[in-house]
Amino acid sequence: MLPRRLNPNVLVSGTPGTGKSTTCELLQRRLKDATYYNISDFAREHNCYSGYDEGRKSHIVDEDLLLDELEPLLRKGGAIVDWHVNDVFPERLIDLVVVLRCDNSTLYDRLQMRKYHDAKIQENLDAEIMGVVMQDALDSYAQEIVVELRSDTADEMDENVDRIVAWTENWLKQHKDGVTNELDGQNEDASSEEDQDYEDDTQSEDSSQSDK
Ligand SMILES: Nc1ncnc2c1ncn2[C@@H]1O[C@H](COP(=O)(O)OP(=O)(O)O)[C@@H](O)[C@H]1O
Ligand SMILES: [Mg+2]
Repeated sequence: MLPRRLNPNVLVSGTPGTGKSTTCELLQRRLKDATYYNISDFAREHNCYSGYDEGRKSHIVDEDLLLDELEPLLRKGGAIVDWHVNDVFPERLIDLVVVLRCDNSTLYDRLQMRKYHDAKIQENLDAEIMGVVMQDALDSYAQEIVVELRSDTADEMDENVDRIVAWTENWLKQHKDGVTNELDGQNEDASSEEDQDYEDDTQSEDSSQSDK
């Protein structure tokens, strides 16, 4: 397992219809070292489902199966992750959480264009008004890495992409050696010294024994 990542992982979240996928597609073109993961597609491709919700007419994503598949990819860094759910990814593997927000009448139009049924539109409008996705992000990640961005107009989307690109460039300057994938740097030293895999601290401190 990779102990460090050299490129940041960016999570783009928001109520369905706020513009995550369009934003991520633009971002992917601008960030040459990034890989875009649309989690709805990813879960389908890797069959990370635990069942089917008849009421919602949608598959239920099994978060453990999803993370089993996704964690090794997040450890490589440079992931752009697109999902309306944001509280399942380990905090140590996420560098920036963008929450896209949108005016409710605009969101209504977008979801209608998608032919969502009325109950599903209402559920999403309620979630957007109450700021559910933003609250989940703040509950799950350090406040400093959570950014809320308006995504009502095409100009705002372009500005958002510019901001995330600028943030990434800044991150790269500030983390020339990358960042750890481990919790609080635990095990990092041990696992990064690949050629010293079998040596532990006791052995290296007590070198007299190995000389005998
Ligand atoms: N900021 C924006 N300005 C104009 N249109 C937008 C904006 N964000 C999204 N859209 C449009 O709204 C629809 C839904 O966007 P999408 O990126 O699929 O949202 P999500 O992935 O969050 O569900 C698309 O037709 C997209 O072109
Ligand atoms: Mg989408």
